[in-house]
Amino acid sequence: MSNAPALQLRNVDYSYSGRNGPVPAVDGLSLDIEVGSFLSIIGPSGCGKSTLLRLLAGLLFPDRGEVLDDGQPVGGPDPRRGIVFQKPQLYPWLTVGKNVEFGPKMRGLPRAERKRLAAQYVEMVRLTEFAKSYPYELSGGMQQRAALARVLANDPKVLLMDEPFGALDALTREHLQDELREIWRSTGKTIVLVTHSVEEAVYLGTRVLVLSDRPARALADIPVSFSTNGTRGLGREVKARPEFIKVREEVLRYVWT
Ligand SMILES: Nc1ncnc2c1ncn2[C@@H]1O[C@H](COP(=O)(O)OP(=O)(O)OP(=O)(O)O)[C@@H](O)[C@H]1O
Ligand SMILES: [Mg+2]
Repeated sequence: MSNAPALQLRNVDYSYSGRNGPVPAVDGLSLDIEVGSFLSIIGPSGCGKSTLLRLLAGLLFPDRGEVLDDGQPVGGPDPRRGIVFQKPQLYPWLTVGKNVEFGPKMRGLPRAERKRLAAQYVEMVRLTEFAKSYPYELSGGMQQRAALARVLANDPKVLLMDEPFGALDALTREHLQDELREIWRSTGKTIVLVTHSVEEAVYLGTRVLVLSDRPARALADIPVSFSTNGTRGLGREVKARPEFIKVREEVLRYVWT
């Protein structure tokens, strides 16, 4: 076991090649993401959040600086860093159960073992009743839960999530926030969540990173120190507490300046 952070960025620059020359998206960003932490990332539209997540995933490579996974340079995508996109990524021709089983199957796990794993993760996102349904038979929220189960079935040590709940209605979103919090607590995974919602960032994060306008630089890095201990489904109650509101206001100060 190493004591290195789960993921690290060291002085990372990244530019796209635009029509009129380079478009800098990330500028000199350094970041340590501790094992087991929950990092929320928030920032203006187009500032470079998805770019940052893609760099962490190994889908993009920095022009300068380094991205390290457990102290080693990230060389490309790896199932140990699972990605959940805004739009649920499921195979439309496979049932929910088969979608979740897909990763373990690719890893060559024996049939009985991968069936057991799939059932476990389908249960974790409360879709057991729909294991034999196809994605088109599910609501958007259920599809996103299935996509989450699919990524979890690879047992990633890090979950990278890019506005996974952005397209959902408020109520479904609250349910999924609680589900994600519970998964984070019960599995001890490291989670990085990009979100547009200050409330969601503070509710779920152990830390909130606020990014500047493009190119993304760190404007503030705010620890969320109050405890969200308690049972499932306490979202509303937590969000009404003075200590929650205090952190939310602190984040808002940076977001709106
Ligand atoms: N494929 C691309 N080619 C050229 N430029 C790009 C490309 N993708 C993104 N960009 C540029 O990089 C900037 C950052 O993009 P990115 O997708 O990381 O932003 P974001 O913070 O995720 O935005 P949003 O909140 O709207 O999802 C954008 O403003 C855009 O100008
Ligand atoms: Mg984005």
